[in-house]
Amino acid sequence: MTKLAIVTDAHWGPAKPIKSRKLTQLAEPLLADFVRHVNNQVKPDAVLQLGDLIEDIMSDEGQNMPSSLASALDLDNYLQGWTLLDGCKCPVYHVAGNHDTWMVDPDALTSVWNTPEAYYSVDVGDAHVVILYTQSIEPQSMTTHVPHEQLMWLKDDLAATDKPVIICSHYSLADQDLTGNYWFEGLPQECLVQNRADVRAVIASAGNVMVAFNGHLHWNNVTEHDGIPYITIQSLTQDIDGSETPAKAYAEVTIKDGFLWVEVMGNDPFLYQR
Ligand SMILES: [Fe+2]
Repeated sequence: MTKLAIVTDAHWGPAKPIKSRKLTQLAEPLLADFVRHVNNQVKPDAVLQLGDLIEDIMSDEGQNMPSSLASALDLDNYLQGWTLLDGCKCPVYHVAGNHDTWMVDPDALTSVWNTPEAYYSVDVGDAHVVILYTQSIEPQSMTTHVPHEQLMWLKDDLAATDKPVIICSHYSLADQDLTGNYWFEGLPQECLVQNRADVRAVIASAGNVMVAFNGHLHWNNVTEHDGIPYITIQSLTQDIDGSETPAKAYAEVTIKDGFLWVEVMGNDPFLYQR
């Protein structure tokens, strides 16, 4: 059996200067609640953090800041969020998000994570967890891809495990319908991985991937391709209806004997099982 807790899109940072559906100022208390709950109740084998741990400072008041200062402030916020999550009594595996890497070099993140690359894999319980890095096609672009080298690594990594595989990324690998999405309706190039069909082809042909998870879209969604569920998890700090009600979303995932149970807790609950 494998039990996981997933949290994503905390967007740690100062409160937004103008009203926003990102309740950035709640990232710290809500992450602290999450860590307490994980340690006292959920007790998973691992926590997966699917990216956008921070809200980059350039999004708001940092627009006129020297880039070196913005980058230092982002890294400081990242370290604060990372340190809080490090209070989990189980391993925590991190995914790089677009806001995390807007001003911070991915190499700085991998030194914090202690991984050789921003994409890597680990065995957790009876499962194999693969962390992908959906990176900008060019600096400061909202369009991301999984570059060829990483795709070849994925192919080899999937071939080398006999465990059921869980894929994690920040952007979605699915052709999900964006109708009604607060942030990305009409903007697939800003939330779906550009070469997602190529990545899905590698995943489908491996034959051992059970599920893929991502964040970034600030909603819950399941879209199946090749019989595999591609599941988007709601953001921890998304204001769900404009009334400053945070989603407080995190997912509990159980995998046992080929059975998959995914339950998103909080103010925007969601359940998937197969
Ligand atoms: Fe994102």
